[in-house]
Amino acid sequence: MGWYARYVLPKLLASAMRQKDLVPFRSRIGRAATGRVLELGIGPALNLPFYGPDVTAVIGIEPSRAFLDMAAEGARGAAFPCRLLAARGDALPIDSGSIDTVVTTWTLCTVPDAAAVLAEVRRVLRPGGKLLFAEHGRSPEPSVRRWQDRLNPVWLHLAGGCNINRPMPALIEQAGFSVSDLSTGYVGRPKVATFMFSGVGTPR
Ligand SMILES: C[S@@+](CC[C@H](N)C(=O)[O-])C[C@H]1O[C@@H](n2cnc3c(N)ncnc32)[C@H](O)[C@@H]1O
Repeated sequence: MGWYARYVLPKLLASAMRQKDLVPFRSRIGRAATGRVLELGIGPALNLPFYGPDVTAVIGIEPSRAFLDMAAEGARGAAFPCRLLAARGDALPIDSGSIDTVVTTWTLCTVPDAAAVLAEVRRVLRPGGKLLFAEHGRSPEPSVRRWQDRLNPVWLHLAGGCNINRPMPALIEQAGFSVSDLSTGYVGRPKVATFMFSGVGTPR
């Protein structure tokens, strides 16, 4: 991994993830999360302040060392036990059926194989557990979609593996979840990277 990807990119991404427009998504997910929570690609741990008293523990998995260091800073003083693990979403070091809530906020765009990650999410969720998601992805507007497909190879390269054209709810449904409480819409600009999907996935 090069110097840009290891040191510069995590700082740029962390700053982008701090934007105010994303706070309502984090807040909604934080209020809905319960019990033992697993966060995929916890990054700089920006969701932690939003978890309520129904959360008993958070496990954050994160493959990037730079983000793990930022997450450790963010986890300091959390009101619940918080464990950070160097791991990838497609190989979760977590027992099957042991998690009440999985949270993914702007991580499914970046994982190389979203289907493999979602299969792991299904495995670790207990029966009746929930996947809470806020992700950006494929726009419903054909003209924007065309640009998303054109730009994706370049974007992917510059933005640390982030894909702008993934059909998030469809991917989640194909992985065996029912999607409910789905909200969609653009949040900010540019349109190619800001069509948001947030909602709840329940294993079928
Ligand atoms: C755009 S950042 C979002 C960070 C955080 N979820 C948030 O809401 O601020 C994408 C995150 O996905 C992580 N990531 C990349 N590949 C991953 C993988 N294979 N499994 C899990 N996380 C991954 C990145 O290291 C980064 O922390």
